[in-house]
Amino acid sequence: MDLYEYQARDVFEKYGVPVLAGIVADTPEEVKAAAEKLGGVVVVKAQVKTGGRGKAGGVKVAKTPDEAYEAAKAIFGLDIKGHIVKRVMVAAGARIAEEFYFSVLLDRSNRSYLSLCSVEGGMEIEELAVERPEALARIEVDPLTGIDKAKAVEIARAAKFPEDLIEKVSDVFVKLYEVYKGEDATLVEVNPLVRTEEGDIIALDGKVTLDENASEIRHPEHEELEDKDAADPLEAKAKKSGLNYVKLDGEVGIIGNGAGLVMSTLDVVAYAGENHGGVKPANFLDIGGGASAEVMANGLDVILGDPQVKSVFVNVFGGITACDAVANGIKGALQTLGDTASKPLVVRLDGNRVEEGRAILAEYAHPLVTLAATMDEGADKAAELANA
Ligand SMILES: Nc1ncnc2c1ncn2[C@@H]1O[C@H](COP(=O)(O)OP(=O)(O)OP(=O)(O)O)[C@@H](O)[C@H]1O
Ligand SMILES: [Mg+2]
Repeated sequence: MDLYEYQARDVFEKYGVPVLAGIVADTPEEVKAAAEKLGGVVVVKAQVKTGGRGKAGGVKVAKTPDEAYEAAKAIFGLDIKGHIVKRVMVAAGARIAEEFYFSVLLDRSNRSYLSLCSVEGGMEIEELAVERPEALARIEVDPLTGIDKAKAVEIARAAKFPEDLIEKVSDVFVKLYEVYKGEDATLVEVNPLVRTEEGDIIALDGKVTLDENASEIRHPEHEELEDKDAADPLEAKAKKSGLNYVKLDGEVGIIGNGAGLVMSTLDVVAYAGENHGGVKPANFLDIGGGASAEVMANGLDVILGDPQVKSVFVNVFGGITACDAVANGIKGALQTLGDTASKPLVVRLDGNRVEEGRAILAEYAHPLVTLAATMDEGADKAAELANA
């Protein structure tokens, strides 16, 4: 889960990372009031979960509350890489002498952590990384020892910080690593980390990505940071039932057990769709091992709640949960859902106790259910029904 800059700022503050005052605002009037409260020069900053806000006109300096009001009017509603600005942060203005870059992130390919750091930070960091990669120090960080003071000094030296700044910036690196570790983040990035005219080192921007696998048990407080409005309502509903669901934009709802089977089902349905008006899979939904009636009902409920869905393809390979249990799950789900189940369902069962499973559904003979013998046949039938 990515955090907004203002959320990252709050987390930084909690860990003692030097930041400037910031107030979130949802209207130009609130921006003006915030600017009055902060006093002096402020910076009005779009709060969207994407980079390059400055270049897109989403970061504006204002010398007076009236200027802040005008800046806000220009920023609200701005489309930054497909993200519409609905909220801004009014930040105290810094007198910047120099801009640096620092990040620490999970390096999956090396099964390690990695720190990137440069004395040439700011809005051109992407270009810098491509054009002069040597100006961006890359230092592996051992997850067991992390960034202690010695490691922080090593990073600062590798990034070619001048001697007289090393003490100060390395202290900040240690604190940023404490954020990374303490919050179970997979990314903590500061761009720019600045030296002000007054000689302070301050994090002026922050990007934090939290590891959602840690949220439920280790960080129940992270739930508050979730962006409930932005989340897809169907995905939110699925999450509540503990389902692995991703909304896509096609017409054929998909339910399967096991991520691999569901992924290949998406492919087969997309392929079959080419013969049926170009219909596509509407979602990814892995109901995992326990295809009980309850799990099946929850899954169907989510998929049928998608107005774009025209048909559903249930593709299950019976293993530990055998096909007869799955068939009873489907039967139970249809009974639970009653009239809410209003779209055709194609079911393909195979594997453990397949004959028993098919027999249960054949006997149930629900008018919406069609049995398919193979995955290809099921995909074709579901695509045909979605195109009808
Ligand atoms: N509080 C502040 N005071 C003065 N200048 C600021 C302040 N915040 C940002 N800036 C200036 O605006 C520039 C862009 O701001 P910031 O890095 O926060 O947004 P951004 O362009 O979206 O960055 P990114 O691409 O990393 O998301 C900074 O490089 C800095 O020069
Ligand atoms: Mg930035």
